[in-house]
Amino acid sequence: MLSLEQKYHLYENSVQCHSADIDFINEQYQKIHGKKPLVLREDFGGTGLLACSWTSQSPDHKAYGIDLDPEPMKYGMTNHYSKLTEDQKARMHYIEGNVLHDQEFKADVTVAFNFSYFIFKKRHELIDYFKKVKAGLNPDGVFFLDIFGGTETGQELVEETEHDSHSYFWDCDKFNPITNECQYYIHFKVGNTKYEQAFSYNWRMWSIAEIREILMDAGFSKVITFWEGEDEDGDGDGNFYISDKEENCESWVTYIAAIP
Ligand SMILES: C[S@@+](CC[C@H](N)C(=O)[O-])C[C@H]1O[C@@H](n2cnc3c(N)ncnc32)[C@H](O)[C@@H]1O
Repeated sequence: MLSLEQKYHLYENSVQCHSADIDFINEQYQKIHGKKPLVLREDFGGTGLLACSWTSQSPDHKAYGIDLDPEPMKYGMTNHYSKLTEDQKARMHYIEGNVLHDQEFKADVTVAFNFSYFIFKKRHELIDYFKKVKAGLNPDGVFFLDIFGGTETGQELVEETEHDSHSYFWDCDKFNPITNECQYYIHFKVGNTKYEQAFSYNWRMWSIAEIREILMDAGFSKVITFWEGEDEDGDGDGNFYISDKEENCESWVTYIAAIP
């Protein structure tokens, strides 16, 4: 069995690129509001890697990481929070709680990354969540989400990605085409040992079109959709641009931004 240390270390090194997320947030927020965002709320924050990193940008940057589960937060406190300076620590707050609950602070930017809001399977649940996000944003705030899809989505298949120290498996184990409910697992392989179902996600697959409509119904005034550019091999190049019309492909991941 994986230790907690291994489990979250492998997870972060397989699925997260917090520096690219921060660059994207800063660039887009600057374009929208003509200034820098200072207060970040990381919903479903898990280990709080993004939030901890946010505080290192300047003495005016503050961050809050909200998650129901104390386990990833414990890992984050030991491995990320502990490495911050005393001043950065004072500006980083882990909140063990529900993203649906009211908070006492307002954020310039709220993020819901790694598709975590797919936990809300009903339209009314997602509207409630998006309304809470809007209520927790400053008037000149922005809500950033990520989303995935493509022609392979909904097919029961396992995608393997090899990293230097391990392999990462993204496993669509079940997909119900009537309800769009799905069961995903993350497995890891280190050396010759495979660790099955290190993470499990029982979600509803939402589309960009649905999310855009639900955000507007929740009261956001504008929703911006992005698409990733391609390199010469046709792979994603990490550069996201604003777009409303694209050709589908086997598998894509992109961002959505919503303005209150
Ligand atoms: C897919 S992980 C995302 C972790 C991290 N944000 C990332 O980008 O990798 C989903 C996280 O959402 C948390 N979670 C699920 N429902 C929640 C809720 N209602 N409120 C707060 N956290 C929740 C889980 O505990 C889990 O840590």
